[in-house]
Amino acid sequence: MAKIITLANQKGGVGKTTSTNALAVCLKHKGYKVLCVDFDPQSNLSFSMNADLSDKAPKIYDAIKRAVKVRHTIQRTGIVDIIPADLPLSGLELEFTSRGREFILRDCLAQVAGQYDYILIDSPPALGILTINAFAAADIVLIPCLPDAFSLQGTRRLHETITRVKPAINPGLLIGGIFIARFYPREDLSNVAWATAEEMARGLNVPLLRTRIRHSSVLSRAQILQKDIIQYAPKNPAVKDYITLADELLKGGL
Ligand SMILES: Nc1ncnc2c1ncn2[C@@H]1O[C@H](COP(=O)(O)OP(=O)(O)OP(=O)(O)O)[C@@H](O)[C@H]1O
Ligand SMILES: [Mg+2]
Repeated sequence: MAKIITLANQKGGVGKTTSTNALAVCLKHKGYKVLCVDFDPQSNLSFSMNADLSDKAPKIYDAIKRAVKVRHTIQRTGIVDIIPADLPLSGLELEFTSRGREFILRDCLAQVAGQYDYILIDSPPALGILTINAFAAADIVLIPCLPDAFSLQGTRRLHETITRVKPAINPGLLIGGIFIARFYPREDLSNVAWATAEEMARGLNVPLLRTRIRHSSVLSRAQILQKDIIQYAPKNPAVKDYITLADELLKGGL
């Protein structure tokens, strides 16, 4: 049965999608069977994974509406298997008002979890019903974060939210850790923020993952070109950092 990992942060642009893509690719290259789920109507992950986003291709929204079986939404793109998203997913907030709407994604993924070792869910930059579904479906949450004051402040808020919603939607949900998804080793700010992050993580009693992902435009380039990052730039420092991060998570019991 797959271990399900959600990458979440209500703050935009902190590296949720990049990290979902990168960790999925790293786990695949280690020989695991991996599925990615794009649960963000922006469909950035679907694009970067080279998914078919045309109208004829079913998306996660179609599975949620029970218009198609979940397994028929899985695309084998050559990078990692993915269930893509599209804009109608943003309507979930208004369309589903019944009790139990927090568990729609969990119930969908239960149908395919037997076929994978890991399922990674990318979530949108908000704390609405989509992210709550991603928490309800997961075994573990990972929190990418940038090395600046506002990101760290947002991370503290996210931790409060997870602690508040967990008992009702997923008491077993584990916070696997916070990690810095774009680090500038030579910048003083990054190093000051690292010290602050360490202090914050200690205070919240949440792991701060030791691997910091260095800044590299190669990650953005691979996204535009829709490439597997390890095949595209195996020696790039940021790609190596993601491989190290995957190792750190696996050693920690992922
Ligand atoms: N380590 C890095 N070095 C350089 N650029 C990066 C790095 N990580 C992410 N980026 C770039 O930063 C931008 C934001 O990253 P990403 O889309 O992964 O964030 P996000 O949290 O998913 O955003 P959103 O909240 O909009 O979903 C992207 O253009 C991505 O290519
Ligand atoms: Mg994103």
